[in-house]
Amino acid sequence: MTQAQVLLAYASNFGSTSEIAFEIADVLQQENLIVDLIDLKSDIEISSLTSYSGVIIGSGIRMAHWVEEVLHFVQSNSKILKTKPLGVFISSGEASNPDTYEKAKEKYLLTILEEFQLMGPKVMYEAFGGVFDFSSSSSYSFLEKKILQKIADSSSSGFVVNDGKLNDFRNWQLIREWATAFADSINSSQLNEKSQTQSASRV
Ligand SMILES: Cc1cc2nc3c(=O)[nH]c(=O)nc-3n(C[C@H](O)[C@H](O)[C@H](O)COP(=O)(O)O)c2cc1C
Repeated sequence: MTQAQVLLAYASNFGSTSEIAFEIADVLQQENLIVDLIDLKSDIEISSLTSYSGVIIGSGIRMAHWVEEVLHFVQSNSKILKTKPLGVFISSGEASNPDTYEKAKEKYLLTILEEFQLMGPKVMYEAFGGVFDFSSSSSYSFLEKKILQKIADSSSSGFVVNDGKLNDFRNWQLIREWATAFADSINSSQLNEKSQTQSASRV
């Protein structure tokens, strides 16, 4: 079977979305897809989306916002994105807590998908948990640490974030399953297209 090509465009503030994007890319490659993995904060230009059989977009969340470069990418390409099988994911503190997970999905995914009219049958979206790095090697500034501490403190008692430690709430199994489901949908639509072409050529 010829390999379909997928674009995985993402950006991160503190690195956890990047690591999720690498993991997804790895799964897609194992599922026989060719992946263009592009950090939207880099200088790499994406000339056209036409040749891609599907697109995945990923963003970290900071102060209730997507990374600006990802939002800009969606804004600039919303017309063509509507025509493609689309996967959208975020990594967020609020998505880490089962009590605020649904709210995070609504705030950070549904709102954007609706704003750019991207919602459709071929859209898969997921809010993955994120990282609260309170370890001594954390890259957050003093103020960033305070903000994140506030998010952690506003959570319910069942959700424990350890001070002084790196708390990683990314569920790698869920991430891999989501990526596999996306790859399956691309591969099965490729197969459908191929069998339709073969039937048409027999007529
Ligand atoms: C300064 C700061 C602000 C944050 N604001 C939010 C927020 O508003 N909502 C949220 O759900 N998570 C918030 N988070 C948590 C991040 O979304 C989480 O750490 C995520 O894993 C970051 O992804 P990234 O490393 O790819 O940037 C914040 C984290 C920091 C450090």
